Amino acid sequence: MFASKLLLCSALLMLNGAVLSQTLIGLPGFKTPETTSEHPSTNSTTASTSTTTTSTTTEKPITTSSTSTIPPTTPTTSTEPPKTTTTPAPAPTTTHAPQPFPAPSVGTWNASCIMLQMAAQLNFTYEDKNGNLTHGLYNIPSNATVEDKECDRPTIQNVHLIWGPNTSKQSLLMYFDKKNDTTVLSSIQIHLTLLAEDFPDAKENQTLQLIHRSDGEFKTPEKMSYHCTRVQKLNLTETIDAKELIGWISVSQVQVEAFRATNATGFSTVHDCDSSETSDVVPIAVGIALAALILVVLISYLCARRRSTSRGYMSF
Ligand SMILES: *[C@@H]1O[C@H](CO)[C@@H](O)[C@H](O)[C@H]1NC(C)=O
Ligand SMILES: *[C@@H]1O[C@H](CO)[C@@H](O)[C@H](O)[C@H]1NC(C)=O
Ligand SMILES: *[C@@H]1O[C@H](CO)[C@@H](O)[C@H](O)[C@H]1NC(C)=O
Ligand SMILES: *[C@@H]1O[C@H](CO)[C@@H](O)[C@H](O)[C@H]1NC(C)=O
Ligand SMILES: *[C@@H]1O[C@H](CO)[C@@H](O)[C@H](O)[C@H]1NC(C)=O
Ligand SMILES: *[C@@H]1O[C@H](CO)[C@@H](O)[C@H](O)[C@H]1NC(C)=O
Ligand SMILES: *[C@@H]1O[C@H](CO)[C@@H](O)[C@H](O)[C@H]1NC(C)=O
Ligand SMILES: *[C@@H]1O[C@H](CO)[C@@H](O)[C@H](O)[C@H]1NC(C)=O
Ligand SMILES: *[C@@H]1O[C@H](CO)[C@@H](O)[C@H](O)[C@H]1NC(C)=O
Ligand SMILES: *[C@@H]1O[C@H](CO)[C@@H](O)[C@H](O)[C@H]1NC(C)=O
Repeated sequence: MFASKLLLCSALLMLNGAVLSQTLIGLPGFKTPETTSEHPSTNSTTASTSTTTTSTTTEKPITTSSTSTIPPTTPTTSTEPPKTTTTPAPAPTTTHAPQPFPAPSVGTWNASCIMLQMAAQLNFTYEDKNGNLTHGLYNIPSNATVEDKECDRPTIQNVHLIWGPNTSKQSLLMYFDKKNDTTVLSSIQIHLTLLAEDFPDAKENQTLQLIHRSDGEFKTPEKMSYHCTRVQKLNLTETIDAKELIGWISVSQVQVEAFRATNATGFSTVHDCDSSETSDVVPIAVGIALAALILVVLISYLCARRRSTSRGYMSF
């Protein structure tokens, strides 16, 4: 009689334990998110090496363009013969066939207080020789160099990348803000001179200023690095306050960290742009585990009480 009750109780306990462990193991995403530190994922490193090898085959940033049917606004009277600059004969532009535009390759830049890794492509509007507006594509070269940085200010830092020939340097500036223990992208400012080798149909000496005023992109807690593999399209205007869009910058494979300690090595713990929902999973799992634990305690208490009432009072 008593033995069978004991058996029932222990069977119940075992069942409960099994359910508990299963809920813990079976829960998606319980395996400690946000533990990847120091390095970006192995996939992104392999991706970057493979892209750099492909970039050697496709040399200079290739450009495609498609003319839109907008009437000429400023008739240009360029009767002078095309000027020959210091660049040699047009050797690389042998293919005029409509090829897909190459994807941008991933670059990594170290400006001590800012570490940046990304692949970036511009899609913008420019004026061609007829004064028509045209779309152009341009990849930020992964071998752009860190020209300058602003690391001393406590709430604003920037990194300045440059590339291109000495006579017409192209540049990209990225500003980061720190407020409330959170770092956030503040703006991206790009100066692009449309070189004849990249944009043969562009109006001469055209320089574009492309600005993205951030709406809180790349937001991450302090002492963590922002990470986002998917493509993010950030709009571009000509001035910081302009309303009219003149293009997009598409960034992907982003990992960035500003306001780094001077002795830091590599990236800090990753804060992924898509992992915010997994942070809810942990509290839920803990809640379920606690509930199961309470159930276990309750059942053992009931079993113990039954045992003591059925035996203890009878013997005394
Ligand atoms: C990592 O790369 C491997 C092969 O290159 C692929 O099978 C796997 O799905 C990738 N994982 C992620 C998270 O992208
Ligand atoms: C960057 O790469 C391009 C083509 O891949 C090359 O023409 C250019 O010289 C390189 N610049 C530097 C600074 O290495
Ligand atoms: C561009 O301008 C030329 C000459 O002004 C004109 O003939 C043409 O229709 C315009 N549009 C396109 C798409 O080329
Ligand atoms: C570039 O932007 C134009 C206009 O928004 C769009 O039609 C075109 O498809 C874009 N190209 C790419 C490669 O995104
Ligand atoms: C470009 O400028 C750098 C330094 O400003 C110099 O070392 C380099 O030789 C220059 N390159 C050319 C092609 O003039
Ligand atoms: C900073 O955080 C506090 C509380 O966490 C909040 O009240 C305040 O509005 C925040 N300030 C800014 C500028 O986000
Ligand atoms: C373009 O710039 C070069 C040198 O800066 C100058 O000699 C040339 O006249 C300019 N062309 C036009 C159309 O303004
Ligand atoms: C560009 O995007 C930001 C948010 O990312 C938005 O606030 C702003 O209105 C956009 N600008 C234009 C001209 O669409
Ligand atoms: C960096 O320096 C600070 C003090 O300046 C020290 O507390 C910290 O442990 C150092 N971190 C590393 C990784 O060396
Ligand atoms: C970044 O550059 C600094 C020197 O400017 C160097 O001390 C540090 O090791 C570099 N970090 C990485 C990850 O390359």
